[in-house]
Amino acid sequence: SALFAALAVASLFAATPGRAADKTFQVATDAAYAPFESLNDRQQAVGFDIDVLSAVAAKAGFKVKFINTPWEGIFATLSTGDRDIVASAVTITPERKQTMDFSDPYFEAKQLIAVGPGSKITKFADLKTRKIGVQTGTTGDEVVQKLVGKTNPNIKRFESTPLALKELLNGGVDAVVADNGVVVNFITNNKSEKLKVIDDSSFAKEYYGFAVKKGNKEMLQQINKGLAAIKADGSYDAIYKKYFGK
Ligand code: ARG
Repeated sequence: SALFAALAVASLFAATPGRAADKTFQVATDAAYAPFESLNDRQQAVGFDIDVLSAVAAKAGFKVKFINTPWEGIFATLSTGDRDIVASAVTITPERKQTMDFSDPYFEAKQLIAVGPGSKITKFADLKTRKIGVQTGTTGDEVVQKLVGKTNPNIKRFESTPLALKELLNGGVDAVVADNGVVVNFITNNKSEKLKVIDDSSFAKEYYGFAVKKGNKEMLQQINKGLAAIKADGSYDAIYKKYFGK
């Protein structure tokens, strides 16, 4: 019958490899991380990561749907298959590489320390005996663990970086250690609070990558192809300029 023929044709197309254009990939993002990812007043994800991955997808010929996903457990959504990509200012680290795969790097970052206006803290080592706010399970959490020990009760862990920074305004922590872009964005948006930023030379460079399920080579190839294309044609630079102004 015609229905059968149509179904057969449809399944032929579905089985054809490389037809990524037909598929919408589910993208996990913890959208409390401006300017990389946040929600606009219509509850849509917006930001640098959103623009970069959307441009990548357009070049490589696939579609993306961004889904606000809590940071805690965000990587597990790849292994369960609930999400295809994590686009969430994720630092590529050797430990994370054991359980997931990363695209080529798309952004260079580092940790910064935020402190209140009257603070005596001038360097990372000064945090040894202080209450330190971090977002749970981030690279900020990791560097602080190295300084004071993983189970040190002076580490105050928050489910988002803005919550940690608000606690700094409330005086509940003496400092926050987090990614530079987010710290600078928060300080700029809360100018009257006169928070200060400390850049410690002990902090290493970090690189953000898009994470996929371990072994998903096809997805990685598509992303890397798109990334190379937007870097080559100037659209990456235009997005960078839109958010970081240089
Ligand atoms: N770059 C840091 C990390 O990978 C923090 C990322 C947090 N991202 C977010 N959307 N909350 O650990």
